[in-house]
Amino acid sequence: MTALKGTLPWDWYSGTIPDNAIIDETAYVETTYSFNLYRSHAPVGLQIGKGSSIYLGTMFDVGTYGQVSLGNYSLMNSVRIICDEEIKIGDYALISWNVVLMDTYRVPFNPVERRKELVRIPKRKLRNIDAKHSARPIHIGANVWIGFDACVLPGVTIGEGSIIGARSVVTTDVAPYTIAAGNPARVIRHLEA
Ligand SMILES: CC(C)(COP(=O)(O)OP(=O)(O)OC[C@H]1O[C@@H](n2cnc3c(N)ncnc32)[C@H](O)[C@@H]1OP(=O)(O)O)[C@@H](O)C(=O)NCCC(=O)NCCS
Repeated sequence: MTALKGTLPWDWYSGTIPDNAIIDETAYVETTYSFNLYRSHAPVGLQIGKGSSIYLGTMFDVGTYGQVSLGNYSLMNSVRIICDEEIKIGDYALISWNVVLMDTYRVPFNPVERRKELVRIPKRKLRNIDAKHSARPIHIGANVWIGFDACVLPGVTIGEGSIIGARSVVTTDVAPYTIAAGNPARVIRHLEA
């Protein structure tokens, strides 16, 4: 596989593709601004398959050990990926505007600790929240379609061919070929495989 490297000729932002991001040369990344919060030191912190498209507004907020992968011919439009462990997305996945996929919360639940974390932010180069918090991988199967403004929480697996309704909050696994929607997301009906 030949990978995209360095700067992108069409980019409005003066960034570069991280060395440990393996992006197939037939994939499209609209801007390297998507890597502004990317700080993975994993051998491969991001992998994007052939023909996939990453449009404006998508942010790879990937922590030191985070690993994100996106299959072939998938599409992400303004998606927020918050990953400290693993977020794996299959082939032909369609992820709509403003979807959030988070394998970790990063924010302390304890109010005193949360306050301390907010005080630390101005001292950080990226001014980001980065408190230690356990992460649980997210797996999104092939052919999944996630509607706009949906949120997928840590540890969730969405099975192949499923659809998640707009503005849903997915807190538990969704079986393959299922439509789920709402907050929390519930099964609406099943689809033919
Ligand atoms: C999930 C979706 C595809 C389902 O469409 P559908 O099969 O036509 O669903 P229906 O309209 O028949 O709704 C079935 C039931 O689910 C509920 N429902 C549908 N979508 C819902 C949603 N996003 N959140 C909560 N409930 C939802 C309906 O209220 C209805 O409930 P009821 O049976 O109690 O009346 C659609 O509702 C949706 O969310 N589309 C978003 C598409 C999108 O994000 N496009 C962006 C461009 S990629």
